Amino acid sequence: MADIVDARTDARAALARACETLGRGVPVAIPTETVYGLAADATDPLAITRIYEMKGRPRFNPLICHMADLAMAERHAVFDPLSRRIAEAFWPGPLTLVLPIRPESAIHPLARAGLDTVGIRVPTGIASRLLAAFGRPLAAPSANTSGRVSPTTARHVADDFGAKLELVLDGGPATVGLESTILKVEGETIRLLRPGGLDAAEVERVIGRPVLRNEKAGAAIEAPGMLASHYAPDAPVRLDAADVRPGEALIRFGGKALPGEAEAALVLDLSPEGNLAEAAANLFGYMKQADAAGARSIAFSPIPATGLGEAINDRLQRAAAPRG
Ligand code: TXA
Ligand code: MG
Repeated sequence: MADIVDARTDARAALARACETLGRGVPVAIPTETVYGLAADATDPLAITRIYEMKGRPRFNPLICHMADLAMAERHAVFDPLSRRIAEAFWPGPLTLVLPIRPESAIHPLARAGLDTVGIRVPTGIASRLLAAFGRPLAAPSANTSGRVSPTTARHVADDFGAKLELVLDGGPATVGLESTILKVEGETIRLLRPGGLDAAEVERVIGRPVLRNEKAGAAIEAPGMLASHYAPDAPVRLDAADVRPGEALIRFGGKALPGEAEAALVLDLSPEGNLAEAAANLFGYMKQADAAGARSIAFSPIPATGLGEAINDRLQRAAAPRG
């Protein structure tokens, strides 16, 4: 079992241990505001290979590279003026920008799956302090086995990887609870490659430009991790439920009770007050609780599609998609 080291009580010791482990080319699970990440030195091909192996992740699926700040990011990627404006407005935070890689960047092609672009994010909190201490970009996908629900606590990570993982930094439950929003600027157009923890409507308000949703089928190829079944709990998922069946877990929203709750295996409410940020923070943990309760399936009541509801509904669609 991985060592879970609390980075809130003795941050200096925890960060020193993480830097030492990363320096040996060994991945370390780290807290970020979105979800926990499985981090490795983005310039070290062996370390990156270990991430792909531990996750069982296809090598054509590029990793997000995390930076301490915009200055560090600018050393590795080319920022057009619009991308820079978006970065200045929303970093640090739950936003990833896909940008052209600089030819002199030391980020290894394996981390980018050979693409001439790189996904870059500047996180807050403990992750940010670790990046400053380590001094090099950290490639970090979500710290879960490929296809499974992303982890929002250190315990989720340790349970998923078991003995394969050496170290988890514990920063408490992730505050956002959904993976970052991925944007790519093309000319004057801002494209949404993945809805996530930053509301795309907030980007539109602050930047004053529309964010284009992917309409064409197969557009998911551009953010390859977005294909088909993903974020899936063990139990099958039933969406837009109007009732709950015996032995099912119900994950509802807004304090609204459904018929059949008395015979449900478990009833959880993502946000009794109907707050979408609270719902996002609870979503993945509740799916795991439903699995732990042995539910035969998980019923979700409808969730509004506005604001963070866009990303929540995206994850629910993938959790409910046919399993490959
Ligand atoms: O919130 C997050 O983004 C978390 C935390 C740990 O930072 N990370 C995360 O990583 O969700 P991952 O690997 O699970 O998702 C990365 C997504 C994938 O869908 C991948 O295809 C896309 O980012 N991506 C990475 N680099 C890309 C690139 N150069 N072009 C297009 N998509 C890219
Ligand atoms: Mg992931």
